Amino acid sequence: MSGKLKISVAKYKDSFAFNTAVNEFYIDSACEEEHTECTSAVRHRETGHDITSLQPPLKSTENSEKGEALKKLRDYKINNCIKCGLSKERNLLVFGEGNADSDLMFIGEAPGADEDKTGRPFIGKAGQLLTKIIESINLKRENVYIANIIKCRPPGNRNPEQNEIESCSPFLREQIDIIKPKIICTLGKFSTMFIFNEISNAAGGESIEFEKIGNHRGKIYDYRDIKVIPTYHPSYLLRNPSAKKDVWEDMKLIRDLLSKYI
Ligand code: URA
Repeated sequence: MSGKLKISVAKYKDSFAFNTAVNEFYIDSACEEEHTECTSAVRHRETGHDITSLQPPLKSTENSEKGEALKKLRDYKINNCIKCGLSKERNLLVFGEGNADSDLMFIGEAPGADEDKTGRPFIGKAGQLLTKIIESINLKRENVYIANIIKCRPPGNRNPEQNEIESCSPFLREQIDIIKPKIICTLGKFSTMFIFNEISNAAGGESIEFEKIGNHRGKIYDYRDIKVIPTYHPSYLLRNPSAKKDVWEDMKLIRDLLSKYI
């Protein structure tokens, strides 16, 4: 399968508005199901019932080696994770989705309520804005890969805690290793700090001190062979729409970089 992104000259669309449709999908119906013995089954956190069928399909994985590797990682290593307390609260774990062969990966923070219900990243209001942001440079959401540092929803959408980041980030590291994107766009503080730590901890890596997103956005950082472009988190943009113009600049930077790889 050719997973390469196609870029045409993007026109500026001032279209970072979003509509309010959200996916109304609840997990409780799964509790009626029989418990079966299957090592890759995803179990409901309270009933132990098999809720594998509620996992969002990884459509883009068909015929793709990277996609198969991601599916294995999700189904055998991550789906039943109980490494931190967030596993007790979750409905569905949110692994990530998109084109496993994409050159471009977006990394957010943690699932919110809508993501927890559906198992899909960035589908609430912030997610709908992220989709518009992606489309503003003439890409389709399904052609990029979207993941978070934290795979389970922090209660009340609080910030992730250090121990949760330490438990969960090895999974993100594995996702990056499989996808091998050319560009990563970090959305907000936590994913940017994660990448800066990775850069600083690498042998011979330059130590980068996180200040605030406003000081890092608009710049390109090197992480292994990947170009990293930090930008504001879409939730921040919902509260501070005037920052959208900065994100538009960052998207143009991404578009220009991507065009070098095509
Ligand atoms: N915010 C995030 O960082 N990730 C999501 O999946 C949803 C909202």
